[in-house]
Amino acid sequence: MHERGFMKRERVFKYSLCCRLIISLAIAFCLSRIGLVSPALGQSAGAAPAQIDYDETTHTFRIDGGGVSYMFGVNQNGELQTLYWGKRLRSDDPIPPAHADGGTSSFDLSVNATPQEFVGWGGGLVVVPDLKVSFPDGNRDLVLRYVSHAIQGNTLTVTLKDISRDVVVDLIYRMDEETGVLARSARIENRTQQPFTIEQVLAATWNLGPSSNYQLRYLTGRWVGEWNLQQTTLHPGKVVLESRRGSTGDEVNPWFAIERTDQRDEDVGDVWFGALGWSGSWQINVETDWQNRVRITGGSTPFDFSYVLAPGQSLETPKFYGGYSDEGIGGASRLLHRLELDSIVPEAPHRRLRPVLYNSWEATGFDVDEGEQEALVEKAASIGVERFVMDDGWFGERKDDHAGLGDWYVNPQKFPHGLKPLIDKVHSLGMDFGLWVEPEMVNPDSDLYRKHPDWVLNFSGRPRTEGRNQLVLNLARDDVRAYVYGFLDKLLSENDIAFLKWDYNRNWSEPGWPAAPIEEQKEVYVKYVQNLYSILAELRAKHPHVEIESCSGGGARVDLGILRWTDEVWPSDNTDPFDRLSIQNGFTYAYAPGLMMAWVTDSPNWMNGRSTSLEYRFLSSMQGSLGIGANLNKWTPEDFAAAKRLVAEYKAVRATVQDGALYRLISPGNSEYSVTESVARDGHEAAIFAFLHSSQKGQPYPQLYLRGLDPDAEYSLHMQEGKLADGTAQRASGDYWMHHGVSISLRGDFQAAFFTLEREAAR
Ligand code: DGJ
Repeated sequence: MHERGFMKRERVFKYSLCCRLIISLAIAFCLSRIGLVSPALGQSAGAAPAQIDYDETTHTFRIDGGGVSYMFGVNQNGELQTLYWGKRLRSDDPIPPAHADGGTSSFDLSVNATPQEFVGWGGGLVVVPDLKVSFPDGNRDLVLRYVSHAIQGNTLTVTLKDISRDVVVDLIYRMDEETGVLARSARIENRTQQPFTIEQVLAATWNLGPSSNYQLRYLTGRWVGEWNLQQTTLHPGKVVLESRRGSTGDEVNPWFAIERTDQRDEDVGDVWFGALGWSGSWQINVETDWQNRVRITGGSTPFDFSYVLAPGQSLETPKFYGGYSDEGIGGASRLLHRLELDSIVPEAPHRRLRPVLYNSWEATGFDVDEGEQEALVEKAASIGVERFVMDDGWFGERKDDHAGLGDWYVNPQKFPHGLKPLIDKVHSLGMDFGLWVEPEMVNPDSDLYRKHPDWVLNFSGRPRTEGRNQLVLNLARDDVRAYVYGFLDKLLSENDIAFLKWDYNRNWSEPGWPAAPIEEQKEVYVKYVQNLYSILAELRAKHPHVEIESCSGGGARVDLGILRWTDEVWPSDNTDPFDRLSIQNGFTYAYAPGLMMAWVTDSPNWMNGRSTSLEYRFLSSMQGSLGIGANLNKWTPEDFAAAKRLVAEYKAVRATVQDGALYRLISPGNSEYSVTESVARDGHEAAIFAFLHSSQKGQPYPQLYLRGLDPDAEYSLHMQEGKLADGTAQRASGDYWMHHGVSISLRGDFQAAFFTLEREAAR
């Protein structure tokens, strides 16, 4: 029996028993994705087992997958010691067996000097521990040693145990054959006779050998300013990336990459990268020692954390994914994109391409009603939209953001006949229907809060801090979970809804759970997220045709945990097409363009007043999953004609954009330019989007040197939007386009171009 991350075993049994009674194999499949049933059921079809070997003479483990080898061994102290992580090695390449580093002085003990796979706080450890516990007798020393291991397909489980107490830790390594990305987690089990408290538990430690030129990259942001790529040289010391917000957050995303290279090329050099599959508070620590060796630990943040494990109970951490590329940060992104699309998202590996959608938010705000929405529906259909989504404002007494959250009935003034007439209209025009919800929140001005004021996160007798006039429901509570699942199930059962935009518009405050026993109250951080995942799992099992977008006031809940249950994400409320170039660029370091919803909205933009052409706005959005969020009631016939043409152009290349290999030819950064190239999986086509901020001093647009083409194949060039420079070839070899390049003509301010290369049949 495998367990969901961070759940006590007893509860798992209760939960899975109940599920089995009411739901069939379909839910078993879904639940397997969070580990409730055998992982084999949840394995993506077609993924061949990776190679996992154990050499009994040298006590060395070796895991190979994709272009990666990962090795560790049991040293003379019984510690699990990292030996190698990087480019795939030959089977006869020499890797010396594990041997503990003795340290250099009495101030530098072996336990700290030896790069370990997972280490308890004990025996003089001063680096970040993976596990720290306190026992009822006052002992807080924990020293973990290798006991045994088991290999099952592409999963290796290594069992460690404390030197004297029955604290057992299973380290789980699962290799993705295609990308070489390892998913690591740990399961802590109490086999003693007494409860003990877990004060800190992380998923894994990743170790990198010494180098003086490691560059750390990570992504920071804020509302309307998400996805900024940061870079810093690693020096001895510690960098902590963290969210204490209760959810993933946009201040920093749970992703990192570390480059070892002197080359300043996006697609060259050794890069190690990792990302957490967890949508609650989290932490990633990057420690560099005096020898310039790097140690990366990550999981749920230890801040305000404690978890009591009774005898017989166990707790499994979230997954910490880690990978390696020798094709620079660009190669690292492409591996992550492949992993997300082929192994993580709900329908992987047979994910549906994202439909072109329309969303009402920027057009009508909270003022939705049947007549106005129906008018938008007709206009959206006329340009080729495939999904119509009604955003906030359709329920309860929702007139603005002061009231209504929690009361999930259709507002009878706005929709006197319910949602059916609108949905029928949407269907009659060949589109499917989507709806906005924010299930985890409540306005104090709501029937739900008046009836259940105790359902929110709070500390007894303390103020309840509001954000956007709302409070956070305590999803860790069984009654709240039942309410949230219940209303969503009813909504989806009673209406023909194909898509939910699942919003989440504030961080936690006063994270108390007064109804729980005091020693269990901090479990809220874990239990909340588990219930969120289990609601999503159960909904998907019961309503398998429904797709879900994760939105959090923009991109504040994007991570590999939520992506197991959602089909796409909303990266930012900032829809200005120029700002979006850098926001979208940052997003793609960690997440696939096909997961990123990007709307074309009105000009001037609501946020910064910038005016841009419809073509520029479309081309900016066409680099991800295209959506339209403009007020179509204000469009001219020319706008409709242009939009229709651009939607058709997008549909023709969307498989390449959403599913292909992304090359960031020129990242916006501080440059005037921005260029992306997506190459189709089968290589038959490349789609290139180029942008100019403003022409300066007659400077021509830079020559574009394409990437990822077959050097010997012939490709023909098709200019879809914009102009080529005079004399540019129309047909040439892959080598020509990659080394001679393409010359386009872009002049003026906020200009854009789009062209494709199509591979010709071999002569
Ligand atoms: C925040 C989202 O990011 C927006 O797109 C919109 O759905 C609003 N919430 C609605 O309240």
